[in-house]
Amino acid sequence: MKIAISGKGGVGKTTLSAMLAATLSLRGHSVVALDADPDANLAAALGVPIDEQPTPLCQMHDLIAERTGAKEQYGGYFKLNPKVDDIPEKYARRIGNIHLLVLGGVQQGGSGCLCPASALLKALLVHLVLGRDENLVMDMEAGIEHLGRATAQSMDALITVVDPGPWSIQTALRVRDLAADLGIKKIFAVANRFSPGPDAGGTQNRLAEIPLIGHLPTDDRLNEGIMGITDDGQIEPSEALTENAASVEEILSEVESRI
Ligand SMILES: Nc1ncnc2c1ncn2[C@@H]1O[C@H](COP(=O)(O)OP(=O)(O)OP(=O)(O)O)[C@@H](O)[C@H]1O
Ligand SMILES: [Mg+2]
Repeated sequence: MKIAISGKGGVGKTTLSAMLAATLSLRGHSVVALDADPDANLAAALGVPIDEQPTPLCQMHDLIAERTGAKEQYGGYFKLNPKVDDIPEKYARRIGNIHLLVLGGVQQGGSGCLCPASALLKALLVHLVLGRDENLVMDMEAGIEHLGRATAQSMDALITVVDPGPWSIQTALRVRDLAADLGIKKIFAVANRFSPGPDAGGTQNRLAEIPLIGHLPTDDRLNEGIMGITDDGQIEPSEALTENAASVEEILSEVESRI
């Protein structure tokens, strides 16, 4: 499965991304967790200590120069199709069966920005989506315009996260329109911090035709992260993930059955 997670700021995109990636990993599947939000914190959610967090790829100037042939950051000639297929193995942080990659804060592809860093990131996205078999969970900001069309069309699903606040559904509807323009096949919604029950019908109504495929309850333990590293270096699910495993399994099985 190749799933992108989007939605309004602060709704729980990173939390859900980490829970999906961790659950797939704990099932024994290989998964690339891609932090495509310039304000990256997927590593933290996956339990990577602050001083061990991976350098965002867009800050790896030597790598960008080596792969694109660029002599300077902007202007001059550089390859638009740099070699990237070894990057997940060489530069990802391993967490269980997860390969975590952090893109960093340049526009990732799209038409607007043409610099060596964006050429590398765009090529990497295309490779991760089109060129590899393993699962992909991509934590994105609300704007998804920078997903190139070829990449977008090859994603299996986009999940937009909504919360009980007044504005996240409006963002979800905007994300739906962008997703349709880009040709993303399926869009789903997950309600975070909602209680299932009477409210769920109202939320589905306001989401119009975006299927609401799951809920995550409010659980303050989620602030402590989704994966933990034990004293002897073993990766283990956090209490928050274990407690909410059924909700995450339900979201994954809804996606699996609908794509
Ligand atoms: N269901 C929940 N219960 C309690 N706390 C939660 C829940 N979901 C998310 N949080 C907490 O809310 C904060 C925001 O969540 P998160 O970082 O996942 O949102 P985001 O959409 O990725 O935000 P951003 O737009 O800044 O990237 C985090 O501190 C997270 O631990
Ligand atoms: Mg986030």
